[in-house]
Amino acid sequence: MRYHEFKNGDRMPALGLGTWKAAPGEVGAAIEEAVRIGYRHFDCASIYGNEAEIGDTFQRLFADGIVQRDDLWITSKLWCNRHEASDVAPAIGATLSDLQCEYLDLYLVHWPVALKHDVKSVSSGEDFLTLEQVPLSETWAAMEDVAEQGLARHIGVSNYSVSKIAGHSGARIFPEVNQVEMHPYLRQQDLVDYGAESGVFITAYSPLGSKDRPDGMRSADDPVLLEDAAIAKIAERVGATPAQVLLAWALQRGTSAIPKSVNPSRMAENFAAASMELDAEAMGEVDALDRARRYVTGTFWELPGSGYTVEELWS
Ligand code: A2P
Repeated sequence: MRYHEFKNGDRMPALGLGTWKAAPGEVGAAIEEAVRIGYRHFDCASIYGNEAEIGDTFQRLFADGIVQRDDLWITSKLWCNRHEASDVAPAIGATLSDLQCEYLDLYLVHWPVALKHDVKSVSSGEDFLTLEQVPLSETWAAMEDVAEQGLARHIGVSNYSVSKIAGHSGARIFPEVNQVEMHPYLRQQDLVDYGAESGVFITAYSPLGSKDRPDGMRSADDPVLLEDAAIAKIAERVGATPAQVLLAWALQRGTSAIPKSVNPSRMAENFAAASMELDAEAMGEVDALDRARRYVTGTFWELPGSGYTVEELWS
C-alpha cells in the first residue's frame, strides 16, 4: 500500500473505500468485508445518509477485536447547510456520534457552496446562501477550531479550485487535502501540480467514472470510463482489469483514490490495484486520454437565483 504522510507523521492509506451511493442496508456489510480484505481508509460524508450504519459496523469490528480505531483512517465531510461558523462544531459532533468515534482523521468542507440551515438538497435558488453571506473563510476558521479541539486530526476541502484554496493562504491551518473528481478523462494536472507545490494532497473521487451516479448527473453522450477501449487494451497487456489500471494510475501519479464498491469481489479487485505498478508507457497512454470531462458537473448548484455558476465553481 502507498501512503500519504502528513507533516505530523500521520499516514493515510492511498487507497480507500468510497461510501457515496453505498445504500443503507448494504454499506455495513461492505465495510466489514472491506476490512477483511485489508482496507483501512474509509471515505464518508454526512450527506450520504449512511454514517449511522457505518458507525454500528465500526463499533462491532472494534468490539470483536478485528481492528482498532487507530488502525483506521476515517474521513467525513461538512454538508453545505452547516457552513455558518456556529454550525460547524455541532455538525462534526453529529457525524462523530453517528460514526461512534471520538475523532475523525480528516474532515473536509464538502463543496464551496452554502445552503440555508434547513435545506439538505436544493430545489430552488431560495435554498442558497451566497459566499458573501457566508464566506468560505468563515467556514474554514470554524474548521480550524474543530481541528484544534482534536475532533479532526486533519482538515481539508473538496471540490475546490486552485484559486479557492489559495484564498485560504493566511489561514492558521492551510487545507491539507482537496478531494475532487479525478480520473483519466479529468486529469486536472493543475490541481495535482498546485497540490505538490503547496502541500495540498489530492484524493480522487469517482476514480472509476461513477457509473452508478444519480440520473440527474447523467447525459446521453457520457462516455463510460470503465469501457474505454484504450484502458481495456492496457489492462489486457498488463494482465489486470480496467478498474485496476484506473486505480494503479491514480496512485502512481501521487494521488489517493476512493473507489466505491459494495461487491466483495470488486472490492478485492480494487484493493489489489494498490500493489500494482504500471510502466511508463502505460502511464503515458492513460495520461493521453484526458478530455476535461466531468461526471459530477456541479450544474445542480446552478439554479436560477442561487448566485452560483458552474463556471465560477471550477474556475
Ligand atoms: P459496485 O458497488 O456494484 O461494485 P466510482 O468509485 O468511480 O464512483 O465508481 C463506482 C461504480 O463502479 C459502482 O457502480 C461500482 O459498483 C462500480 N465498480 C466498483 N469497482 C468496480 C470494478 N472493479 N469493476 C467494475 N465496476 C466497479
